[in-house]
Amino acid sequence: MASEQETGTGYRRGFETQREELQDVSLSVEGHFPDWLRGRYIANGPGAFEAGDTDLRHWFDALAMLRSFTFDDGVRYSNRFVRSEDFRFAREQDGVRAMLPGTPADRPPWTRLRQALTDAFQDNPSVGVVRYGDDYLAVTESPWGIRFDPETLETTDRVDLTAGLDCDVTLAHLHRDGNRFLNLGVSYDRGATYTLFERPAAGGDPTPLTRLRFEDAPYVHSFALTERYAVVTVNPVGLDTTTLLTGVVTGDTFIDAVEPLDKPLRFVVLDRTTGDHVATVAAPPAFVYHHANAYETDGEVVVDCVAYPDERAMTGLTLANLRAGAPKLPSGDLVRYRIPLDGGDASRRTVHDGPVEFPMIDYARDNGRPYGRLYLAETRGESSLPTALVQVAPDGGTVTRWADAGGYPGEPVFVPAPEDIDDYGVLLSVVLDPDADRSVLVCLDAASMDELARAPLPHRLPYGFHGQFYGPPVDGRTMN
Ligand SMILES: [Fe+2]
Repeated sequence: MASEQETGTGYRRGFETQREELQDVSLSVEGHFPDWLRGRYIANGPGAFEAGDTDLRHWFDALAMLRSFTFDDGVRYSNRFVRSEDFRFAREQDGVRAMLPGTPADRPPWTRLRQALTDAFQDNPSVGVVRYGDDYLAVTESPWGIRFDPETLETTDRVDLTAGLDCDVTLAHLHRDGNRFLNLGVSYDRGATYTLFERPAAGGDPTPLTRLRFEDAPYVHSFALTERYAVVTVNPVGLDTTTLLTGVVTGDTFIDAVEPLDKPLRFVVLDRTTGDHVATVAAPPAFVYHHANAYETDGEVVVDCVAYPDERAMTGLTLANLRAGAPKLPSGDLVRYRIPLDGGDASRRTVHDGPVEFPMIDYARDNGRPYGRLYLAETRGESSLPTALVQVAPDGGTVTRWADAGGYPGEPVFVPAPEDIDDYGVLLSVVLDPDADRSVLVCLDAASMDELARAPLPHRLPYGFHGQFYGPPVDGRTMN
């Protein structure tokens, strides 16, 4: 019988549930992690693709599972489901508590109506992690952050991240800016209002900086920073709020309500200190989840991001499609937009052909400034998941690639070497090895892309989303 590697469909294992939770397991190491690598890599992502008896429909619906790797004298691994209200309901009531992005609640219409009236949003946080001071939170696009113990990954309580803001949800991707964080909150009515706000890095109350009002309801996943500006990339894709409202009865979901808007892609440039509006600049339609970086040059703002042709980048991420033998997925390319601040439209150039995702930089050093290296997960062949990690010079030049035959690498997280060490840094990535039915933590030299070390896990993790490294070389955040 042909193995999944030979048939090329092993990526399907990345969309299979892992119920086993492990605590502080020492991993065997092949090769050598740098001696300076001390701290903890915590990532978030799917753990289960069912809520009780209900099969979840969309990748973003999966129940969140935290995974952590602690580097001291060895490498210790833990993984644990986040005990959100959604998770508890799935386990105790065998179903979906509140509407997930692509799966309706398993509850009678009158219960869904009451939920709609009482703002009962999902609290299943599978997208990323945030640290405010000593508080670690698992987050998604929801009002709720779920606090956890970084040592054990045990859920402690949940925090209303919209408190003090006139918003329904806050974004999962935020920026560190010295002693504060910057983020966006969203409130929906017939249209949408985005609020740029700051929060002290040590935790505390948010302060709104400015509000952006839209007559339609565009979807925004992340934004970019330069030294002076916050650049909000407004997708020409949004929510039909009527579909969302009637979904209380019909069972239509957030994903069902996603529609193309008859608009260009827009970059809204804001002063990142005062929130003042600087410019709104149009570009041909495209859909953007993630930014690599942005910076100012000669009266322009340069924005590097992964751009898809249209909203299928979101609507195409159903689990049925992702598990298909030949998944139909649009390609995201790494593109560079040059945004004039004195009139005219933005120009666009492809820096690296996709499909690529998970752009990563030396965030602490390079975010908002001209830079020389970025990293991506790259997909070749008919696969739902990346097959390689690449290093790209954003101004053009050589591309360096790392791949593990038959393996599917997750987001590459950059960890800078301490200043007194003559190293650039490393990339950490969790690679799915379907043939061995397990995942492997891999460490690459971020300059050469040579593999330095790997630590196989005792089991397979579903393919994950975003993580952060917390340790001495990094003050709080390794990515936006
Ligand atoms: Fe994301």
